[in-house]
Amino acid sequence: MTREPIRMSSPDITQAEIDAVTQVLHTTDLSMGGQILAFEEEMAKIAGTKYAAAVSSGTAGLHLAVIAAGIGEGDLVVTTPFSFVASSNCLLYERAIPVFADVDDQTGNMDWMRVEETVEAILRGGNDAKRFLPRSLAGQKSGPHSVKGILPANVFVQAADYDQFGDIAHRHNMVIIEDACETVGAHYKGRPAGSLGDIGVMAFYPNKQMTTGEGGVVVTSNEDWITQIRSLRNQGRKPGGMWLEHDRLGYNYRLDEMSAAFGLAQARRLPELLEKRKRVAFWYEERLRDVELIRFTTIAPYTTQPSWFVYIIRILPPANRDRVIERLAREQIPSRKYFSPIHLQSFYRDRFGYQPGDFPVTERLGDQNIALPFSGVMSEDEVETVCFALRKALE
Ligand SMILES: Cc1ncc(COP(=O)(O)O)c(C=O)c1O
Repeated sequence: MTREPIRMSSPDITQAEIDAVTQVLHTTDLSMGGQILAFEEEMAKIAGTKYAAAVSSGTAGLHLAVIAAGIGEGDLVVTTPFSFVASSNCLLYERAIPVFADVDDQTGNMDWMRVEETVEAILRGGNDAKRFLPRSLAGQKSGPHSVKGILPANVFVQAADYDQFGDIAHRHNMVIIEDACETVGAHYKGRPAGSLGDIGVMAFYPNKQMTTGEGGVVVTSNEDWITQIRSLRNQGRKPGGMWLEHDRLGYNYRLDEMSAAFGLAQARRLPELLEKRKRVAFWYEERLRDVELIRFTTIAPYTTQPSWFVYIIRILPPANRDRVIERLAREQIPSRKYFSPIHLQSFYRDRFGYQPGDFPVTERLGDQNIALPFSGVMSEDEVETVCFALRKALE
């Protein structure tokens, strides 16, 4: 008997989303209308911030957050090498310099002790700083550098330990940009993802917990920053300004009304969407708990509400992760490596001199992690099929 193909991810769309988009199509406002405002209001509520600005992608949002936070050419920002490449590329767009700090082995989130060590060594300057700066910079200047910010990315299911980042940032007068693209609806010590730094960004690609097709949102309680971001996403038009009046270099990072209406309908279903994903994660864990060669992501004690984006397991030696992926593929089960370390991407190596061995925890997770098929609409039978094939692949 042939079965329906198991997909890596699937959006969860109901009649409510179809009706919301259809209603917009009966109007003449297809961009910059009431849906955007309503969507922004809902997202600010979810993030627990005063303001939200909808944008065309998470990457666009990160770029604008970097500009609003005043990060520019030559500024050092401590960030994670274990993330989707956009969390670091957004710094390159403004010619800032990502200084990587390794991650926590249990959660995959940036380790605050590594961040503190990195910031303090760089501030001391000299040979101490050289050990932590990208090789391309280490030879350039012997005096101390300053560090402008910290940019953690929340990975898989939960936020990093932001109170610790907050202390470091406070001591050294740095901004925190929270890449919450993977954690809409997650809570850290009762506080929502997106509100944990000075400015946060969430993303809504179709594999995310909630989707707008393509899209993202910047959230902050800083009024000046949100005003600037609203102008920057709209070609630098003056706030309240007229057609064709631009007072700064801007971009077209607008989200359209259909996507905003879609997002609003999804945002209103967010508790249900998160609950369904949590249930699928539980089905996986229940079936794989006793497999010795598998390790799960730890849910940290400070995570008061997880928000499952991807379902990641670690394949421990002597099993070989790549061979497991091949064997699953032979059974028509898709799976992916997750993540490929950013510092080892060819253009980061060429530009900054990063090398294998620089961030051992990141590299180990990069070698051992597998993302399994995952979505809120997956059935228990499908999870069973994946787990059966996985056990077989590990034999
Ligand atoms: C950690 C992280 N940052 C940034 C992004 C970028 O979002 P987008 O694809 O909407 O540009 C993603 C998307 O998957 C992500 O996972």
